[in-house]
Amino acid sequence: MSLSGLVVVITGAARGIGQAAAGQFLARDARVVALDRSWDGAEATATAMESTGRVLVTTADITDPDSVAASRQRALDRFGRVDALINNAACRQRYLFPPHGLASVLETTDQDWNTMLGVNVLGTLTVTRSFVAPMLEQGRGSVIVVGTGGSVLQPVAPGVWRGRNTGSRNEPYDASKAALCNMSLYLAEELRDRGVAVNVVFPGATHTTGSGEIAAARRRLGLTEAPYLRPEHLAPVLLHLAGQSSAGETGLVIDAVRWNRDHGLGDADEWRHTPLGDGRDQADARQDEHDGGGDAGDPGQGDDLQQAASAGDGQGGDCP
Ligand SMILES: NC(=O)c1ccc[n+]([C@@H]2O[C@H](COP(=O)([O-])OP(=O)(O)OC[C@H]3O[C@@H](n4cnc5c(N)ncnc54)[C@H](O)[C@@H]3O)[C@@H](O)[C@H]2O)c1
Repeated sequence: MSLSGLVVVITGAARGIGQAAAGQFLARDARVVALDRSWDGAEATATAMESTGRVLVTTADITDPDSVAASRQRALDRFGRVDALINNAACRQRYLFPPHGLASVLETTDQDWNTMLGVNVLGTLTVTRSFVAPMLEQGRGSVIVVGTGGSVLQPVAPGVWRGRNTGSRNEPYDASKAALCNMSLYLAEELRDRGVAVNVVFPGATHTTGSGEIAAARRRLGLTEAPYLRPEHLAPVLLHLAGQSSAGETGLVIDAVRWNRDHGLGDADEWRHTPLGDGRDQADARQDEHDGGGDAGDPGQGDDLQQAASAGDGQGGDCP
């Protein structure tokens, strides 16, 4: 599949899923605006991206409208258009509750909620407002939002639902992604007659920044993690959706693991991350080194937290 000429903006492109997605778009001749709030420790990634001659590496915090607007201007100056936006940058549970990323609802503070919702909902809205404008002028484009499976409800009887991942101690992250998902589906309807598709994708539990540290901390608490997927597993559905307009697929929420399987791209086992002996891959080890390593966490919470590890179906995108 060639995406020659397509201009795609990827937030959170310095690491993890965003970095992997950028590589896959570049391999298909697309042009990429790689936005992140920090390229510290990812300088080699930035240099490699820029050496292709088809990437604008830009630094912006998605919660800062001025820095987002400056990145949009640089993108338009460089490429003249924007065809797709992948809203991938997020505050993760591990940022608030390092190293294991676990918190009960009553342990969270108002500040935790403000931070999480500020990045994942308002920050994503800021980026979307900014980069959808050129798409609306073109009358065509695609907005993709990276959500998480733990944010949705599952039906248990007609007219009755329950949460999908409610034992995972993943608040306020899952709540922020639920709000983001809902907002995205409303936006899809608003833009249906204006050419721009809006869709949400759910990764499975994916090996990205700090995964080794999280897994080690949870092991010390007596918990086990669902096996991780490689960050590249999300790329096929992103590549597919980036070419959509509202005349095609829009207003959908898509589980990437299932999508790969249904499109002949392999089931979860074929996308498994294969760890080194200590549960960290080399990229993770490099990042941890840059971050100065991680603390072992509190080994006293094992019994309380056991439910967190066993909750979910392992495919639901339990993102710490
Ligand atoms: N890893 C998983 O298991 C998993 C599962 C479900 C969903 N997700 C979602 O996938 C997306 C990517 O996560 P990841 O696991 O690759 O994480 P990651 O930590 O490896 O990468 C996230 C990137 O976003 C950037 N970022 C964070 N806050 C930002 C801000 N305010 N402005 C600009 N950039 C910012 C970070 O610097 C980082 O480079 C997120 O939306 C996450 O919620 C991840």
